Amino acid sequence: MNTLRLRVFPDPILRENTEPVADFGDELKDIVAEMVRLMRVHDGVGLAAPQAGLSLRLAVVLFEDTLHVLANPELLSSEGEQDGEEGCLSFPGIFGNVRRPERITIRHRDIDGTELETTVEGFLARAFLHEMDHLDGRLLIDHFSPVKRAMSKKKLLRSRASGEEGQPATL
Ligand code: NI
Repeated sequence: MNTLRLRVFPDPILRENTEPVADFGDELKDIVAEMVRLMRVHDGVGLAAPQAGLSLRLAVVLFEDTLHVLANPELLSSEGEQDGEEGCLSFPGIFGNVRRPERITIRHRDIDGTELETTVEGFLARAFLHEMDHLDGRLLIDHFSPVKRAMSKKKLLRSRASGEEGQPATL
């Protein structure tokens, strides 16, 4: 397949509707491999298909040497709360606190199309929810206050010129 490239805000594809993954064949495996490559090149730990220019309900999260492939994920339940700094590959240099549930259970399919229910907590719950947000066109800055959102957009335009780097995990 063609090489995918990272889409950065305000690329309109980040807000577009995504289609369910319907075909779990070789093409999907190529897409997932290419998404993982793109995520690693940009030092991310998670990437959703729209960030790679594909309007698909598909995301990857690589955490502690385990690759999680989330195809057609749905949130089944959530409990608790956590606060933490979040970044996003589509918002280079932008970080901010996002309150998320502490533990979630999702239903999704893996790369072979097998339906799974997965329960995760802490950072993985945060990462999964961040990627699932992407599939609905919901972005990091949508979780910020209006003032922080406006500052982030300004900073994004500035940092694009200067190429500065951030520290927390980028999803
Ligand atoms: Ni992101």
